[in-house]
Amino acid sequence: MFPIIDLFAGPGGLNEGFSSVRDENGAFVYKTLASFEMDSFACQTLRLRATYRELVRSERDLGPYFDYIQGKKSWQSILTGDFRDAYFAAKTHVYQVELGAENRPEVDDFIEKQLGSESNRGHWALIGGPPCQAYSLAGRSRRKGDETFVSDHKHFLYREYLHILDKFKPTVFVMENVKGLLSSKNGESSMFQTILGDLANLPGGTHYQIRSLVVDADPANLEPSDFIIRAEEYGVPQKRHRVILLGVRSDVAPRVPRRILKKADGAVTVRAALQTMPSVRAATSSRRPKIELDWQAVQEQALNEVRLTEITNKVEPVKSGTLAIDAYESWISEEALDTPIQHVPRAHMVSDLARYRVMAELAGLLGKSPKYTDLPAALHPEHKNITREGTPFTDRFRVQVWDAPSTTVVSHISKDGHYYIHPDPEQTRSFTVREAARLQSFPDNYFFEGPRTQQFHQVGNAVPPLLSKQIGDVVAEMLGFLDE
Ligand SMILES: C[S@@+](CC[C@H](N)C(=O)[O-])C[C@H]1O[C@@H](n2cnc3c(N)ncnc32)[C@H](O)[C@@H]1O
Repeated sequence: MFPIIDLFAGPGGLNEGFSSVRDENGAFVYKTLASFEMDSFACQTLRLRATYRELVRSERDLGPYFDYIQGKKSWQSILTGDFRDAYFAAKTHVYQVELGAENRPEVDDFIEKQLGSESNRGHWALIGGPPCQAYSLAGRSRRKGDETFVSDHKHFLYREYLHILDKFKPTVFVMENVKGLLSSKNGESSMFQTILGDLANLPGGTHYQIRSLVVDADPANLEPSDFIIRAEEYGVPQKRHRVILLGVRSDVAPRVPRRILKKADGAVTVRAALQTMPSVRAATSSRRPKIELDWQAVQEQALNEVRLTEITNKVEPVKSGTLAIDAYESWISEEALDTPIQHVPRAHMVSDLARYRVMAELAGLLGKSPKYTDLPAALHPEHKNITREGTPFTDRFRVQVWDAPSTTVVSHISKDGHYYIHPDPEQTRSFTVREAARLQSFPDNYFFEGPRTQQFHQVGNAVPPLLSKQIGDVVAEMLGFLDE
């Protein structure tokens, strides 16, 4: 099996895709030797998933795993027999640490131990990307004028990545980052060009050829935008655009042919992703005053106004891909589960429920999310002048529409459900963790540890596993040529 090491592993989305790749005989292609991550809940998720994989790969009983993730048995009660063995075998490779200059020696030691001595080391892959806050456009605009931003250590966490490339020389690496990386500046220089230059000329003399996974062109002629992967073009029910670099060590690059991802036959929509989820209503929280109104009347008024003015501009559904939907369904579905797990709605304030309800009704008519300003005045918050130009309030609510992929599921979903309003007005709520996980293409049997906000956070952080599975397939095919 081809070893992989995962840096800044999060809940393991990137790793999940690679770990699922099988060869033509059904044998698993990759084996994870180490996952480095600093967040303790994400590490718990990684350990549990690694245990699941261990059980699958050794064809042992998955019963205790399913009992645990469905809340039927406690952790203590399942930690016996085969499950216990699998857990201790799997958990050793999940290493909780804050990567950075200070912890380099212990991280290096662990990698050395896992990979074995240099003379016996075969081909292996480094996956994962340095955290994105410093590059993300939102993070940058919030910190405009902040002198410390230029020297923010997160800007330089990629140096840890470079260090590992330089010292341990993986055959290939897959590095994911936000699109903001392409336009990010470090002082006067472009962060992206700096990174490309660094990757091509590491201090120890190793060189990497940087390839695109979506544009089949000579690496010397690639444009920055050629590294952007749009997840919705590859069967993921979500518009998620990320920069993904594939590095191939230059001594093997001439023997490794170029390969790119194959586009899906059309989109997987929110409808296709969520149609089998049980319908549930949100609980109400009354932390703030309820709004006093006849909201059925308000709803009627809103619908009438929309019918009169905008219905002729209804947005058409996007083209669905039949094969893509089949592939998605077989990827996420899990027969061993009685009902989807982690599908408990958040509580919302009554005033927000009325807004969600009306906005979801309007979205159904328009084929797109209405603007908050489309709501009748009775549903506006009393303390805000939402029509004032420039007020951020108008963009604070978004309905995810049925007949298109969703907008990007970001880690901030943990704090704010308003961007992820369910398209079914009857359910009147924001998405659950499982719905967000489905939009991220996590298999239904993937369990996220920690309190609910942490579960959302992990889901939003990940590379969609169905996309990383395809990247893993492409990399496996390319590397197959090294054996010839
Ligand atoms: C974007 S997420 C990675 C997602 C992951 N590739 C996946 O597909 O699931 C980035 C992760 O890096 C972790 N992280 C940030 N700084 C770190 C550091 N200095 N050392 C270790 N982990 C770090 C964060 O906790 C977060 O889980």
